[in-house]
Amino acid sequence: MSLTPSELSTPPPKLDRGLDMDAVRVSEAAAIAAWALAGRGDEMAADQAAVDAMRTALNELDIQGVIVIGEGERDEAPMLYIGETVGRGTGPRIDIALDPLEGTSLTAKAMANALAVMAWAPAGTLLNAPDTYMEKIACGPGYPAGLLDLDRSPAENTRALAAAKGVDPTQITVCVLDRPRHAEIIASLREIGARVYLITDGDVAGVMNTADPDTGVDMYLGQGGAPEGVLACAALKCVGGQFQGRLVFRNADERARARSHGITDLDKKYDLHEMVRGDAIFVATGVTDGALLDGVKMKDGFVHTHSVVMNSASGMVRRIRMKRPV
Ligand code: FBP
Repeated sequence: MSLTPSELSTPPPKLDRGLDMDAVRVSEAAAIAAWALAGRGDEMAADQAAVDAMRTALNELDIQGVIVIGEGERDEAPMLYIGETVGRGTGPRIDIALDPLEGTSLTAKAMANALAVMAWAPAGTLLNAPDTYMEKIACGPGYPAGLLDLDRSPAENTRALAAAKGVDPTQITVCVLDRPRHAEIIASLREIGARVYLITDGDVAGVMNTADPDTGVDMYLGQGGAPEGVLACAALKCVGGQFQGRLVFRNADERARARSHGITDLDKKYDLHEMVRGDAIFVATGVTDGALLDGVKMKDGFVHTHSVVMNSASGMVRRIRMKRPV
């Protein structure tokens, strides 16, 4: 959705608190649908179930939503594609970033930490990130601005964070996706004695861990999906923290895709507030059990879900357990 010059120069409207619960109901629906296919070895079926459920739930709401981060471009994704309008077409104009199933292979293997995730923001305020990789670095709240920089080495960033925290680098834990492409990063972190917390998938939660002292994770580092970067930034916008991201292109096609999203400076380092320019609502519901949320459970004829919803306008973070008859 493109905005007029006067709309762009006006501060974006706040997102009404009443929208929080609408967002929760949508992510609950996606999580329940995905969970029904957990452990069955079929990533695509689980993802499709989550997509269907999320789309149906979104279309029942009084919003004028536009998908800015979704299942892909229109020609490759029939549902929740980038640019698709959702909602009943009345009510607030909202940019929607979503990943109905963050952790498709985690779900297919019934492994921990799969989530249904969404971010809502006033129209025109979320980065229209293409479906490419993104280099990411993040830490939680309470540190001086500009502490981390993708142009510094993993060791330099870890030392800077350790100094700001007032500890030795050996007391710093860095979350990294366990991928061969991260071998050098992992080796250099271990060389200075930092603890490396490897995750097999799900870097939205990986970034969010940095803002949750209970996880013990201080920093997130490495390449993951750019769409997941926007979702993670929406979460950090609500709870505080720092993030820097830079798109990574593997070929000319990916560069062209970025340009078609209106991105002119392909080497730009984006900070949190450039990825999410106004307020945001972030919501996640656990599909399988994880560090952040419990997964869906079916007990005694009831379905149980566990969600977190945050609103940067109010600073509110609410954890919600839902129980309803199957
Ligand atoms: P999906 O749920 O879409 O499979 O994404 C899972 C995920 O681990 C993301 O959290 C992460 O950003 C991305 O995949 C990393 O991509 P890759 O698996 O190609 O390294």
